[in-house]
Amino acid sequence: MSYVSVRDLDLKGKRVFIRVDFNVPLEKNTQGHLEITSDKRIKASLPTIRYALEHGAGVILASHLGRPKGKPNPEMSLKPAAKRLQELLGHSVKMAPDCVGPEVEAMTPSPGEILLLENLRFHPEEEKNDPGFSKKLAGLCDIYVNDAFGSAHRAHASTEGMIPFVPQAAAGLLMEQELKYLGMAIRNPARPCVAILGGAKVSDKIQVIENLGKIVDNLLIGGAMAYTFLQAQGEPIGNSLVESDKIELAKRLLVHLGAKLLLPIDHIVVSEIQPGAPHETVTKIPAGKIGVDIGPKTVECYARVISGAKTIIWNGPMGIFEKPPFDKGTVAVAKAVAASAATSIVGGGDSEKAVKVAGVIDKITHVSTGGGASLEFLAGIQLPGVLALTRSR
Ligand code: 3PG
Repeated sequence: MSYVSVRDLDLKGKRVFIRVDFNVPLEKNTQGHLEITSDKRIKASLPTIRYALEHGAGVILASHLGRPKGKPNPEMSLKPAAKRLQELLGHSVKMAPDCVGPEVEAMTPSPGEILLLENLRFHPEEEKNDPGFSKKLAGLCDIYVNDAFGSAHRAHASTEGMIPFVPQAAAGLLMEQELKYLGMAIRNPARPCVAILGGAKVSDKIQVIENLGKIVDNLLIGGAMAYTFLQAQGEPIGNSLVESDKIELAKRLLVHLGAKLLLPIDHIVVSEIQPGAPHETVTKIPAGKIGVDIGPKTVECYARVISGAKTIIWNGPMGIFEKPPFDKGTVAVAKAVAASAATSIVGGGDSEKAVKVAGVIDKITHVSTGGGASLEFLAGIQLPGVLALTRSR
């Protein structure tokens, strides 16, 4: 995979358009103002923004936020992101009223200035990957930089469509970092390489299981998707969540992956899913009971495999970790990953929350900013945003 890096280009005096992923969670505070509840993605984009400023560029930032369905929606404005970015950088950030049009063109930043465009998805042409819209965006800049790994699985105007219309296109520093670690994990991992996959559904992760199954030495399964595999093996699963239509697929995967696929050997079960509900540890799930976490023997077994690994890829929690005490298995696995000397790569979304809950996020080699994007990457799917950068080289 070969692409131009922002570090390869002369940015001095240039208008540099950086596609960032500022799709951050927002919540209304007590005064009814929208506040960012996790600024991780904004923080992750700072190195590229700083790099461009330090190298004499005028910086144009563009992102989507939420799914406004092609219409302006004040609740999905990027204004809170401009404010947060300004605080983090200690540098003024101008907010454009839109992302295209004469008003925006008149605001093009001079070297050392930053302009954040309004939500790209306020225009339906962004998600339609409309060439006319791509041209308008491309007309704002001399250099295009894609630093939005989290959106690289979308073939949209700002992630893919603009590239043929810009004089130069490159990957940003975050994009490079993501591709370095995730690429290493699926192409030439140090061995033994262990994948830990959790979450509710086998169906969400079939392609990841199939692809990683070809690469890794061990695949540790947790979360509710384990019950579909256990049922496929003829094990009792009580009232645990199961995807009945995926049993045949699970049977095929069990045969195909053989001994490298490990399933939980004990379980935490409850009669009803409530935080703090009475629970017990069992090796066979009794009728009427629901599995909510992996048990201590499973933790011990998984921790042993993890401690011997040289590369670890983790996506998805081991149980209903958002309802303590059913976070124990996930937290224990997170601690085992953090304690190992392996290069550890954690997918975004719930897996990131899990390492945060366990308080070990700083001990993970790379926590991806992409949820859907990192899953597709691990599934071996070529991401349109990345492919477009390699084609433009
Ligand atoms: C994400 O949060 O996964 C990305 O920002 C993409 O957002 P989307 O799923 O709305 O395209």
